[in-house]
Parts: sequence; structure tokens; C-alpha cells
Amino acid sequence: MQVRSAVIPAAGLGTRFLPTTKSVPKELLPIGDRPGLQLVIDEAVGAGIDHFVIVSNRSKPAIESYFEPAPALVAALEASGRRELAATISGIGSDWRVTIVYQDEPRGLGHAVGCARDAVGDEPFAVLLPDELMGDSSLLAHMNGLCLRSGGSVVALKEVPTDEVSAYGVIDPAGPVNDDGEVPIADLVEKPPIDAAPSNLILIGRYVLTPDVFDEIAALRPGAGGELQLTDALRAQATRAPFHGVVSDVSRHDTGNPLGLLTASVEWTLRDPQSRDELRSFLDEVTSRPTP
Ligand code: UTP
Repeated sequence: MQVRSAVIPAAGLGTRFLPTTKSVPKELLPIGDRPGLQLVIDEAVGAGIDHFVIVSNRSKPAIESYFEPAPALVAALEASGRRELAATISGIGSDWRVTIVYQDEPRGLGHAVGCARDAVGDEPFAVLLPDELMGDSSLLAHMNGLCLRSGGSVVALKEVPTDEVSAYGVIDPAGPVNDDGEVPIADLVEKPPIDAAPSNLILIGRYVLTPDVFDEIAALRPGAGGELQLTDALRAQATRAPFHGVVSDVSRHDTGNPLGLLTASVEWTLRDPQSRDELRSFLDEVTSRPTP
């Protein structure tokens, strides 16, 4: 058994990027030279996943067209000698399988994941939020292994200062964190007040879930904000089955807001040997100027 499918919810309104997201889905905004959505797919491919279920909305047709074959573009790139780029373009959606499913209106993350039920089938699967970028595939690979070993769902966690917990989903640990960063979980709570938070370990947008979660999602009632919350379905799983977290310090960016997208782009570009010197000089120069 292997975790083969990943669900990527991409049907939200992206209101923090309006007016851009009036026509361009936020999941396709670039970090360096490629869309955030592609970086998340690359991370999952590195963890052994080869089937992507993209949850989209019919008002975001650019997502579907990103995965469509582009033979004329590939031919033009090959004709001009740009073979590597041509191979990258023709690999999109053919090196791995893509299924697009639709969420008619954004009714929350739990509802979005539920829309992927038929495409995923009756096996463990990953969920990757495309506006959280991880530095590499190691965390997801670790989570896949733990899910298969334990037979229960696994969530990615990060330790944060206690005064930051109220903006996130927080876990209630059922025991200590072991040397590999694995921790058993008794319960989860969405955005608790600081004094009621059961820990300072927050959920960071990567999940490996057993398929019974779809029954829990189907039974959900609207929670915080009138939405069907994935955290509520996970709580139900945690009360009756093995349920773990993996605490990680892998480098991570929240690209769901304009500043986070910018800082992720800067870090990505500083990794690129062809661009980094020019970017560094620009940053030195611009930060030495008096603030306007
Ligand atoms: P976010 O809450 O960050 O995305 O959800 P959003 O709602 O599009 O953004 P804002 O808050 O209005 O700026 C995280 C991911 O889950 C998807 C989003 O597309 C995003 O990739 N999502 C969210 C869905 O697919 N469906 C939903 O109902 C909610």
C-alpha cells in the first residue's frame, strides 16, 4: 500500500488578492518562474504521489487549462531549441495524472475535500493546501510512512509562540513528541483563544488522511463562519482511531496573502544561481534608501 493521490483544494475566492483574483486564480500566481500550484505538485511528486485531484470552481477556468496539453507551444519551443522548457511543459499533466473536480461554491475546506471522494477512492490520500509552500518533500514523505504504519490519519504541525495560536487550528496532544517529531493526538480545536489553547502546535496545511474521513465530512454541520470545517471531521477521527501529528521545522511560506507571496518569491529567487546576485544587489540598494 502506498499513498498515491493528493487532493489540492483550489476553489476558494482568493479575496486577499482582489482585484487580481477577479480573473487570475491565486493558485496560479507565480513564485519565481512557476505557479505556487506547480510547486506544491512538485513537493508531492517528491513524496511518491502520482495522482492529483484538483478541487476547482467553474469560475476559475485557468486552473483547468493549466493542465491541458499544449502541443503548439511545445512544438514552438522545440523548434527554437528550448528542449528543456518544452519537456517541462509537455510533462504537466502527463508525468502524473490529474483529475479536476468542482466545488460549486466555496463552502469550506471540509466540503472541498469531500468533493474529491469519488476521485480518490477507498485508500489513504494526502491533502495539500496550495498556499502553504514547504521547502522540500521530506515532511510529506514522513507523514505518508506514518499513516501507513499506524493505520490512522496524520497532520503536519509546527511549534509557534503561544500568543500566535489563535489564528490557527491547534492540537491537543495525547502524549509527548518523540525523537522523530511524531506525536499522538487526542483532539483538535480551530482558532482557540490563547488561554484555552491545548498546546502551541498548529496545523500547517499538509494532511495524510484515511478514507473514512469522507464519512465524517458527509456528516458535518456548518461550523465556524458557516463553513464545513475539515478540522471538525478530523476531530471525529481523532476520538476513535490512531491519529498523529509530525512536528516539523521545514522552511515554510504562507503565500495566501500578498506579503507572504512576495517573501516566498524572494527566497525562491535567492536560491536560483542565475538571478540571486542581481536580486541581492537590488535588495541591498533599495533597503539602504530612506523610507519613502
Ligand atoms: P483559503 O481560505 O486560504 O483560500 O483556503 P481563499 O478562501 O481562496 O482565500 P481568501 O481568504 O478569500 O483570501 C485555503 C485553500 O483552500 C481552498 C482555497 O482555494 C485555497 O487554496 N478552498 C477554500 C477551497 O477549495 N474551497 C473552500 O471552500 C475554501
